[in-house]
Order: sequence, then structure tokens, then C-alpha cells
Amino acid sequence: MANLLPSSTRTIPDTASIPRHIAVIMDGNGRWAKQRFMPRVAGHQRGVEALREVVKACRDLGVEYLTVFAFSSENWRRPAEEVSFLMTLFLKMLEREVAKLHKNNIRLKIIGDRSRFDDKLKQTMRDAEQLTANNSALTLTIAVNYGGRWDVMHAVQNMLREHPSLAQIFTEEDLQPYLSMSDAPEPDLFIRTGGEQRISNFMLWQLAYTELYFTDTLWPAFDRKELGKAIASYQKRERRFGRTSEQLTS
Ligand code: IPE
Ligand code: IPE
Ligand code: MG
Repeated sequence: MANLLPSSTRTIPDTASIPRHIAVIMDGNGRWAKQRFMPRVAGHQRGVEALREVVKACRDLGVEYLTVFAFSSENWRRPAEEVSFLMTLFLKMLEREVAKLHKNNIRLKIIGDRSRFDDKLKQTMRDAEQLTANNSALTLTIAVNYGGRWDVMHAVQNMLREHPSLAQIFTEEDLQPYLSMSDAPEPDLFIRTGGEQRISNFMLWQLAYTELYFTDTLWPAFDRKELGKAIASYQKRERRFGRTSEQLTS
């Protein structure tokens, strides 16, 4: 079994002033484009540039894990042209950026259900992950065709396939290695751009004790400075993990 990372519901995680793991819902691309009388897809294109800047900023700050939501399991409900544009954009982004990520010692991971992707995209994803597998400055995880419920269901199915006897009774620790983010600590800070205050099926399990930050800034306009504001807000929070404030200060 994989080495177990501390779980926020079982032990008190170590916390630091710079979050170890930041999870982001990159929302507001369509509205950013609409405000500029541009097609929605232009917003997705600019969104890739925003991601590039945030990745660099996280690396510079010493953030260890950055996990971003690029395409949800529910985003297939969008018009076919937009879905197909997003898939092509994702493929092009992988092809164009992977060498740079590798040069910057960044490990790339992709989570989500890959079964619906075409062979070329599947192969490009595997190649990118393999090339960067041993990098250590930052782990960038991109969630595509990902859903938090899918993740938990998928983990339970895989766990039971490998250990049928666990069907009788299993614990959080039994399940944890089968979840998509099993090799990362739980996110310290969650950021959602674009003004909506919801989780939209992102990392349901892992966000148990994550500090939530919502901003009206649309994703294509989110930059290093905006990231700084989110981290400053995080630094003012008291992370109690179920304890009282008095217990923390004594
Ligand atoms: C987020 O931006 C990107 C994806 C979901 C792929 P949106 O496309 O949701 O932009 P808005 O929310 O319509 O502005
Ligand atoms: C969440 O954004 C998913 C991604 C950013 C990939 P959506 O724009 O799809 O979320 P809802 O539909 O507004 O909740
Ligand atoms: Mg949206």
C-alpha cells in the first residue's frame, strides 16, 4: 500500500504561512470574453496565459502542489463546438508547454476520467506525465473530465476490485490510496475566480478542511498580484481542525 499522507480528519496537518497545496477553479473565461465582445473561446485562450503566470508565481513562492480545474465531468453539457475547442486547446497546450514545464523542474499530473478522450490526447497526456515524473519544484495537477463524485466512486470500485474482502468494512485509510490525489497533502487553500461561491463537484473529499477563497476577478485577469491577495487572506485564517481557538493559543 502507498505511504499514507496525514488526513485532516484523522490527524492535525502541519500548516505553514505559504500554503503547501493550492486548488483552483479557474472560472469566468466566457464572461471575460463577452465583456470584450469576443467569442467565449477567446477567454479560454487567455485563460491558458493566466495559468502560466500562476504556475510561475507558485513555483517562485515555494508552493508544492497546484491543482487546477480545467474541465469538469459536467462540462460535456456545453455546446459541442465549445467542448471540441477546449479539447483541442488542452492538446495544444500540452504539446507547447511541456518542455517548458520540464525545464522549470515542474511535474505534471492529470486527473479525471480519460476514457472519453481520443487516442492522440491520451498518448500526449501519458508522454507529458512520463517526461516530468521526476521533477520536484512544483507538482501541477490538471483536472480534466474530473468530478469529485467520480473520484470517490472510482476509488471505491478500484479498492474493492483489489481487495474484495474490504466490502464488509473499510476505513478512510483503506480508501485514500485509491483517490486521484492520494500522493498530495489535502489543499490548504482553495481559490475560485469568477464570482460564483460553489464547489461545482471539485475535490469533494480533499476540501474537507481547506480554507475557501472566492473572488469576482475573472480567471483570464487573475495574476500574481491576485494570487498574493488570496494567500494574504489565507494567512489571516485560524485553522482549527475541530479544536477551539483557546487550544491553539495555549
Ligand atoms: C471556466 O470558464 C473554464 C471552463 C469551465 C472550461 P467558463 O467557461 O465557465 O466561463 P464563464 O463562467 O462562462 O464566464
Ligand atoms: C467549474 O466551472 C469547472 C471549471 C472551471 C473547469 P463551471 O463554469 O463549469 O461551473 P458552474 O457550472 O458555473 O458551476
Ligand atoms: Mg463558468
